[in-house]
Amino acid sequence: MSSPESKLPKPWEHAKSDGTHDALAERFVQSLTVDRRLYRHDIAGSVAHARMLHATGLLTDNDLSRITDALNQIEKEIEAAADDWPGWKPHLEDVHMCIEAALIEKIGDAGRKLHTGRSRNDQVALDLKLWIREAIAGLDERFTDLYAAFITLARRDGQVIMPSYTHLQRAQPITFGAELIAWLSAFERSQTRIAALRDVNRENPLGSGAVAGSALSVDRQHTADILPLGPPTASSIDATASRDAAIDFTYGLAMVAMTLSRWAEQWVIYATNEFSFLRLDQCYTTGSSMMPQKRNPDMLELIRGRCGAAYGHLVALLTICKGLGIGYQRDLQLDKQHLFATYDSVVESIEMAARIIRTARLDADAIASTLEGGFLDATSLAEYLVSQGVPFRTAHQIVGRLVRRCEDEGINTLAGLGVEKMNEACTDAGAGRPCDEQVMEWLGAANVVKQYRSAGNAGTTGFEEQLQTWVERLGAMDEGSSA
Ligand code: ARG
Repeated sequence: MSSPESKLPKPWEHAKSDGTHDALAERFVQSLTVDRRLYRHDIAGSVAHARMLHATGLLTDNDLSRITDALNQIEKEIEAAADDWPGWKPHLEDVHMCIEAALIEKIGDAGRKLHTGRSRNDQVALDLKLWIREAIAGLDERFTDLYAAFITLARRDGQVIMPSYTHLQRAQPITFGAELIAWLSAFERSQTRIAALRDVNRENPLGSGAVAGSALSVDRQHTADILPLGPPTASSIDATASRDAAIDFTYGLAMVAMTLSRWAEQWVIYATNEFSFLRLDQCYTTGSSMMPQKRNPDMLELIRGRCGAAYGHLVALLTICKGLGIGYQRDLQLDKQHLFATYDSVVESIEMAARIIRTARLDADAIASTLEGGFLDATSLAEYLVSQGVPFRTAHQIVGRLVRRCEDEGINTLAGLGVEKMNEACTDAGAGRPCDEQVMEWLGAANVVKQYRSAGNAGTTGFEEQLQTWVERLGAMDEGSSA
């Protein structure tokens, strides 16, 4: 089927008998709308490739200087005109062919030599890896900002004592700062994971050609030395068939999205009337069109919700690749829309999160007003008994009974029972009379958070140590980014 509105021949389709096209097919096959954002990476790869072709005698001095000058000019033109650059011609399918066509238009035959020993298949694999490398650097900046936001809040309100939750039931008292650092730890691990996965994918595919390499004197080490990736890939077939780099990065981003989503959920709960732990800045809440009193935590909800699309994109990428034999297939072109969409969304969510955190206000009075409810110090009392020589399992049983006695007698706190009733319970369990007045130092949330001493604890000492480490780490990050 041919359609009259589009009869532009593609400069590389000489094996076809005529230049007829179908407009839908033309739109269907193009990737320009998505991949034009690779133009700088494509040009960087082309300059490296040209320098290599020159070094191995496939380009003259004159060819090389004309190619590099023209590519630099094209880059400037694209930078200035962005989407309006006249070289964006959808019938040329993608960023690679548009730039090459513009090059040939500018310098003729020298431009026609650039594709020597190269294919769009190794070109796009390279561009993608170069883009990912740069994207990770951009992501790292956002992580630093997110960490700084958490630390700002931790320094201001970190010593506030609050309940921790397991099963969303009151568990043990902690410092608010320790919980903030818990989130930091998860985000930092995500960042480390992404860096590790980048290292797994560092090999440079350029020079692999379409699938089998080239019979010309293509020096892959030469381009690998110029470009900021690793050594040449071992197999030309694998290099052009693989999208592992895109999948790994998207997985890394999906893990960031997951942690953001969990954090958002927790803060949605903390911002409820029922909890009243947190007040979000007005910028980050919205009203209801009907209920005049509402301050809904929509930004947090959207951060939580966007995680769904990140997972979707990851599954899309995995599924695109699952049925493909080893060798380039056009399905692979669909990778970039998922990768870019995930990246853009996660970057924006991190930026949003940092702003929400910086401007959040903890309601310390509201937290304190219910802090002694729910027997948060029960585990601490059991540990006190252990410190007095009672086996833990026995101590656990004694405290469980004491909690029940409090509930039966309408006593709100374990301390309210007094030392005598505690000793009675111990005697009943065959543990003698181990309690003295010292026990009071193990009871009440404010005392309990001071008792934790294990490394990484969520009380006072743990928080202070972790905060110190983070302040130093952020200082190093700042120096790193200003160096
Ligand atoms: N735009 C394509 C992509 O993103 C480039 C590769 C096309 N290769 C081919 N042999 N048709 O994958």
